Amino acid sequence: MCNKKEKWTDEQCFNEARKWVIATLQNVIVNEWLPSFLGEKLPEYIRYDPSIDPSISNAFQSAAMRFGHTLVPTGVYKRLKPNKCDTSVIRLCDSFYNAQEIIYNNSIEALIIGMAHQAAEREDLSIVDDLRRYMHGPPEFTRRDLMALNIQRGRDHGLPGYAVARKMLLPNENIGSLDFDKMAAISKSSYKNVIENTLTKLYSSMDEVDLFVGGLLEADDELGPVFKEIIREQFQRIRDGDRFWFENKENGIFTEDQIKQIRKTTMYDIILSVTQNIHRKDLQLDVFHVPTEDDLVKLTCADNFLPYECKIHGKERNCFSLPVVKSSVLKCSASVNVPLCSTSEPQTYDYFTGSGASFVLSFLFLFLFFIGSVIALFLLVHMRKKESLRLRQSVRQQRKVYSDENSCLATEWIGKSEGTRDVIIHFMQERKQMSITLLNKQVLRVIDLKHVQSVEFQVSAGSNLDYVLVRIAREYDLVLKFENPDEKEVFIEKLEACLGKIGIGRQRYEINVSHMLKNAVTKAHRQAQLEKFFRVVFAQVIFFFHIWER
Ligand code: HEM
Repeated sequence: MCNKKEKWTDEQCFNEARKWVIATLQNVIVNEWLPSFLGEKLPEYIRYDPSIDPSISNAFQSAAMRFGHTLVPTGVYKRLKPNKCDTSVIRLCDSFYNAQEIIYNNSIEALIIGMAHQAAEREDLSIVDDLRRYMHGPPEFTRRDLMALNIQRGRDHGLPGYAVARKMLLPNENIGSLDFDKMAAISKSSYKNVIENTLTKLYSSMDEVDLFVGGLLEADDELGPVFKEIIREQFQRIRDGDRFWFENKENGIFTEDQIKQIRKTTMYDIILSVTQNIHRKDLQLDVFHVPTEDDLVKLTCADNFLPYECKIHGKERNCFSLPVVKSSVLKCSASVNVPLCSTSEPQTYDYFTGSGASFVLSFLFLFLFFIGSVIALFLLVHMRKKESLRLRQSVRQQRKVYSDENSCLATEWIGKSEGTRDVIIHFMQERKQMSITLLNKQVLRVIDLKHVQSVEFQVSAGSNLDYVLVRIAREYDLVLKFENPDEKEVFIEKLEACLGKIGIGRQRYEINVSHMLKNAVTKAHRQAQLEKFFRVVFAQVIFFFHIWER
């Protein structure tokens, strides 16, 4: 393809090849493999429908499509040398986590021919041991049961019970409400026993039966109506809701002739074109079904096959395949074949015997650690108490040093996130000012009282009586905390005396501390207000300037 169009870049070649590979796979899966699995074709493709949601349904993913697990055989054949007829088998339990090695050690061609000539397991209630007792081989300590996983996954995903799903998916079916007797009547005769003796013990009604279990029970060597409907509906949505579908003539991806060519390409053609040692006579044309009497005459190594009666697309045929791989004949390797939990005696572990001394030492250590922690805690509390007593005494001393007739020592609350600091408030009635300094005399703030008419005191009420908020027009609030209510009152007296001498009025309110602190106008708050003010003013100025310019 790329040789013909030399001007193409690598990228163009890659994307062109990718487009053809995808389209060919779409054709093989939907038009060749699906009909052999469902027993019928999808309705003819009409056009892309954007209203269709192609996403995978829960019932398809967690139940119906897992039906394929019952088809998995115990092992796969390989025809070592395609033109000779020798065969050998790879047991499934020995192939988990081993896929690449198997392909490197045996050619993929040998496996393709082997698999094309062996029959899948029947579409029935049973699943091979390799998927129940030996999954997933040596790397997994506890083995898993794929059937149990499928049932559990349906419950995890909240699937409806079998009878409920059947009613929804097959509304035209005239069987009334489905009970165990009816299920036994519509199922394969050999399942009657299972339904009567097992299902009735595990479930209270058919509505309760898990969709996966019910779906298997309705199978009669081919998919039953519920699973068939779920799978058909899913694939139809995948096809009709995909705007890149190869048969969509409106997406401009392929011409009509190319679409015809893709429709004609089968899995048989693909295998022959991508392998070197597989020849026309090594494979039947329909590689998704075992050879029939028509194929046998043309096939190499036909003597290896065993005949049996089968149904293909509803028609009775004579089929031929390599003998069924029996688990009793080809055992799993020793590393896989470990006893299962269900077949071995349950075991318990005695952690105490032989470890008595270390147990005693461990508990003793834990006990001593606990006692030591409690003692350390008491010592810590005692030291903290001593330290806070010493601090209080030193603060009292400082108060004596800093407090005189015209000044007071207090703790200033600066803001919720900023915290507090110790300050001295100086009353300077001659200069009609009040200044706030740190203990080292560094001036923090001077409040000019010359043009002030009145000052508001908010005094804390309730349980916490040590706070005072002083509100002066054009200033941010001064919030002070005192050692005790008496000191607070002394501060108020001094401030009132100072204001009285200057001739400024006073208003006193009692207020709850949390309310006081919440509504206090702090420096940060004041700055934010100013910033906002200037922003608005500048915006207005720029606006008027624009109008004036226009
Ligand atoms: C050697 C053969 C196979 C093995 C070991 C195998 C194993 C598994 C495992 C372990 C899961 C996940 C189960 C869970 O935890 O829910 C799974 C899911 C599934 N299997 Fe298989 N399987 C095999 C063959 C098949 C076949 C032949 C089909 C259908 C034709 C199939 C269809 C599915 C589907 C549709 C899911 C659900 C996928 C999903 O959740 O997206 N499997 N399989």
